[in-house]
Amino acid sequence: MLYTVLLPAAGSGKRMGAGQNKLFLELRKIPILIHTLRAFEQDPKCHQIVLAVKKEEQAFIEELLVKHRISKVAAITEGGAERQHSVYACLKASPTNGIVLVHDAARPFIRQEVIHRLVQTAEEFGAAVAAVRAKDTVKKVENGIIQETVDRESLWIIQTPQAFRYDVLEKAERMAEKEGFLGTDEAMLVERQGEQVHIVESTYDNLKMTTQEDLLFGEVILTKREQ
Ligand code: CTP
Ligand code: MG
Repeated sequence: MLYTVLLPAAGSGKRMGAGQNKLFLELRKIPILIHTLRAFEQDPKCHQIVLAVKKEEQAFIEELLVKHRISKVAAITEGGAERQHSVYACLKASPTNGIVLVHDAARPFIRQEVIHRLVQTAEEFGAAVAAVRAKDTVKKVENGIIQETVDRESLWIIQTPQAFRYDVLEKAERMAEKEGFLGTDEAMLVERQGEQVHIVESTYDNLKMTTQEDLLFGEVILTKREQ
């Protein structure tokens, strides 16, 4: 089945500390945003892309789309103060059926194979998120003192994409807004509705470009993929 991807791109990249939206920073002379868009542009199963952007950045982003021949962007909408608001704005601007995939514009290395498994799982069960197993030992700490060592076997690090049947995500977003609930990802909103969210094992290189060192890792990932 074809899917629609919602791409929140309206952040400011504070932790990157670049003095501009980090999505405009370049890896191999191509903006991060374009690397991410290409992953979907090149996927025959991606029907269309909906972008949330800052109003003052829209014109520049439209120029980038033309320059890099990105043709699947069906709508560009204004993002909100929080990521969740930007995702909801995308959802409101997207078609009202089928599978929707939410993906951080700041994760440029997503693999098509993971996307397709997510779409398949969401078709079957309603909701699926990309995740990798925790590699490190994780402990709960209060006031600098360890309270608990969490069983690593049950720990997963959650990424995007997160894939949903349209109705599942729409209800979760609507209820979260109504109740003033702010989650850290879409799965959290769906979980609150009592829905089961499935894990699809992803890859560790699906990094979110968040801090300066991620740019170095990003260059290495691109070099490895060229070999
Ligand atoms: N995002 C968004 N709207 C917001 C905040 C974030 O669309 N109000 C987007 C970002 O552009 C990014 C994705 O959500 O593609 C993931 O967010 P994050 O990595 O936190 O990016 P920023 O919020 O830009 O970075 P920071 O938190 O360091 O300021
Ligand atoms: Mg942020």
